[in-house]
Amino acid sequence: MTAAQTALAYGTAPTATPLLRITGVTKTLRGQQEPRTILNGVDLTLHSGESIAVLGRSGSGKSTLLSLIGLFDRPDAGQYLLGERDITRLSERRAAALRSAEFGFVFQRFFLLKQLSAVQNVAMALVNGQGWLPRRKRRARAMAALDQLGIAHLAKHKPPRLSGGEQQRVAIARALVRDPKILLADEPTGALDTDTGNLVVEALRATTDRGCGLILVTHDHDHAAKMQRVLHLDHGVLSPAEVRR
Ligand SMILES: Nc1ncnc2c1ncn2[C@@H]1O[C@H](COP(=O)(O)OP(=O)(O)O)[C@@H](O)[C@H]1O
Ligand SMILES: [Mg+2]
Repeated sequence: MTAAQTALAYGTAPTATPLLRITGVTKTLRGQQEPRTILNGVDLTLHSGESIAVLGRSGSGKSTLLSLIGLFDRPDAGQYLLGERDITRLSERRAAALRSAEFGFVFQRFFLLKQLSAVQNVAMALVNGQGWLPRRKRRARAMAALDQLGIAHLAKHKPPRLSGGEQQRVAIARALVRDPKILLADEPTGALDTDTGNLVVEALRATTDRGCGLILVTHDHDHAAKMQRVLHLDHGVLSPAEVRR
């Protein structure tokens, strides 16, 4: 029986399956030096349309956590459920397929290709992956994504002609063009001034209106306060944070 059927049968309120749920996740990094436990029992649940901020000092493991969630890396222990599917153990091939189908990524650096226009940069995200699309359709979807970010008029501009905030909005359009269920943003305003950063955070938050789940890693307490929940990563554990404003 599915959760919804159970709810009908027993008259309980149906609870939506979270987009993702990780429990007891640990990660120890083994470099040249002594092994260091970066994550030490992290629990996190993200629902559709939900926005979560993750605060934490530099080196606390925020990027490590996002790379586990985004399937760039694996936990040493714990469980990872994506929807109803247990993906704790997954082949690299399956992880790559899920990553491109379910996740969008935004980083501090924009990683745009200088020689391509804004719309070409966004359309590039549709070249690989499941579901081949003809060039005209890729372009139409890229234009729609730029429009959603309020920068359709910049479609033909190449990144060197765009401001930092405009470039980051192109990067967000690129992350959204495949319609990801989950958007992971790792200090996306780190290279931007305050006003531009606010615009970018609002653009990210707006994606949750369409059902996207958003995890925003940030140092900025004002930006964090715009998310529905604010968590703090400290000593390898995530807990609800006090937000200074
Ligand atoms: N590949 C790696 N090997 C060893 N140590 C690493 C590696 N990547 C990151 N670290 C260390 O792990 C800790 C957490 O890093 P990170 O997740 O990038 O933190 P944050 O994003 O919160 O600044 C840091 O002390 C960093 O130096
Ligand atoms: Mg980081």
